[in-house]
Amino acid sequence: MISIIGAGKVGSAAAFNILRYRISDVVLIDIFENLAKGEALDMMQTAPAIEFDGKIRGTSDFSEMEGSEIVIITAGEARKPGMTRIDLVNKNAKIVKPIVKEVVRYAPECKLMLVTNPVDIMTYIAYKESGFERNRVFGMGNILDALRFRSHIALELNVSREDVRALVIGEHGDSMVPLVEYASVSGIPITCLLRKKQIEKIVNLTITSGSDVIKLKGSTTYAPAAVIGIMADAILRGRNRVMGVSTYLQGEYGFSDVSIGVPVILGRNGVEKILELELMPETKKRLEKSVLTIKEAIKKLSE
Ligand code: NAI
Repeated sequence: MISIIGAGKVGSAAAFNILRYRISDVVLIDIFENLAKGEALDMMQTAPAIEFDGKIRGTSDFSEMEGSEIVIITAGEARKPGMTRIDLVNKNAKIVKPIVKEVVRYAPECKLMLVTNPVDIMTYIAYKESGFERNRVFGMGNILDALRFRSHIALELNVSREDVRALVIGEHGDSMVPLVEYASVSGIPITCLLRKKQIEKIVNLTITSGSDVIKLKGSTTYAPAAVIGIMADAILRGRNRVMGVSTYLQGEYGFSDVSIGVPVILGRNGVEKILELELMPETKKRLEKSVLTIKEAIKKLSE
């Protein structure tokens, strides 16, 4: 069973993906009980059309997450046009901390996935507050950035998005680091197919992708909900998928005491392994800057 805390746009769309792809039953929890119940009812009524048998329950009772294999936190405020994700830090830390306490109380064995922004900092807070092993506390961010990176590469080359493979690491935010040196189209490095100027354009579009959507419709929903489903599937089915996930570092890439996106193998135990890649000097510098951005925000939080 999977519990999703926060039945807002992202939480409910993620719940629907988890059901329709037959990944798991879902408990959807929100402080607004009617919202959670209403979303659950609406989804159940879709079941005969999409032909899924999974069950969903909406509630405001946190004890109903008992026995969850995965708990996904999407509760909290979303950014408005013009805001950065880090602008949400204080408000959302106040929401996420007490939720983590409930998770420890009712689902102490779960894998805990953070979605609430700024996701790297929420992951750090959840890791510290929960006392869980670090492989069990991780954040969704870079996999979404990578989806956007892949889409922009495919569009520029007019090739199928399916054939484009790429990673983004670092903060799920303005200092993210799209890994140009590891992006490929069916194994062909993008540096063989695109000029430097085109790659720069793609990298910039990747970084602003989230804000570009928010400027137009106020929030991002479908892409985050899709990748939450991919991550849940990787864990519950033990698929050992490789993706960028926010993880607490203990010396990897030369950094400690920070949660930030790095490539990992995601499987039954959550983060099964952190993959340490050789990085170009320019990429290393960008990652250092990204770590600094997160560490500064964490420092301000505890002041
Ligand atoms: P939303 O406003 O539609 O939903 C948030 C929900 O959280 C609301 O229904 C609210 O009642 C609920 N909530 C607030 N406090 C709660 C509590 N203490 N317990 C239970 N529920 C509570 O917002 P949306 O668009 O769903 O975004 C949710 C969060 O996800 C935001 O912080 C947003 O920035 C983040 N996000 C993260 C992404 C990522 O890539 N990591 C992508 C998209 C959004």
